[in-house]
Amino acid sequence: MLVHAIPGNVSYEFAADVRAGLTRTGQKELPSKYLYDNVGSALFEVISHLPEYGLTRADERLLRRHADEIVDRVAGPVAVAELGSGSGKKTRWLLEALCRRQRTSYYPVEISHSALVMCERELSDIDAISIVGFEREYLDGLLEVAAYRKSGQRLFVLFLGSTIGNFDRPAGLKFLADVRRILEPGDSLLLGTDLEKPSAQLIAAYDDELGVTAAFNLNLLGRVNRELGADFDLREFAHVARINSEARSVEMHLESKRRQIVSIPAAEVVVEFLAGETIWTESSHKYSAHDVIETAREAGFRCEVQWIDEQWPFAENLLIAE
Ligand code: AVI
Repeated sequence: MLVHAIPGNVSYEFAADVRAGLTRTGQKELPSKYLYDNVGSALFEVISHLPEYGLTRADERLLRRHADEIVDRVAGPVAVAELGSGSGKKTRWLLEALCRRQRTSYYPVEISHSALVMCERELSDIDAISIVGFEREYLDGLLEVAAYRKSGQRLFVLFLGSTIGNFDRPAGLKFLADVRRILEPGDSLLLGTDLEKPSAQLIAAYDDELGVTAAFNLNLLGRVNRELGADFDLREFAHVARINSEARSVEMHLESKRRQIVSIPAAEVVVEFLAGETIWTESSHKYSAHDVIETAREAGFRCEVQWIDEQWPFAENLLIAE
């Protein structure tokens, strides 16, 4: 597997984002993409096995059940690009179905190096597959994959696991429109979206009994300590999951248990937290099946088929670029 070199400005960007997010007036925030260092990626993998968090299993069930139908609908010579491959486990079903029909090039695009390595380990035993990983932001990676496209070859893009839900709605629409601009008419996008469900079920999923999601969230402060030399005392912050009914999302926050001052040398900042003040670290937006079709249409896609899991409301949407 060819893992492209990490861009040199990553920790500079991290420092700049941490500084901007923690010094803004009003709600302090840290971008959710920084949850996924090696520790965070490993914790997310554990979350996907928790009984309260049915999202990943629903995604995988749909892919396993409908893999043949999905790949038949994108039939013809295709290259597969996956945005945010994670461990690659659930992608196996699709890749095996495709590789039974044709030799397949698979391009996972990931900002987490360890996830790319896990993904290669998981999938390299599939016959007739070639894997080239891109350690890149999604759109940068997809642009490079598109440049690899051979003539007559279609692109089949995977954006699974409801990662789209971690964008706010306008940003989600913009992201889909940006993906569409990189594609050509007839290319396809398989989009996984978590659907709306009762608040109690969402709170349990994002504040599990074992405390794995709490550790996943707190690790973000641990990462700021490790990479930017900060002195956050993780025991003085608490994980909080809350419903935002207006945004139709569940939010994760880190709440300061007391008034405290934290210094973050590499971000050249000292931050004061009041007791009860929170850092907003993630939003996970939930969609209705109809929302997805509409949003896709506005972004320049036609929704060809939607498969919905009955145990845990989740939709796999096959979108065709128009
Ligand atoms: C990756 N993403 C779709 C997950 C979600 O459900 O929003 C991340 C996650 N956050 C807490 N638990 C899982």
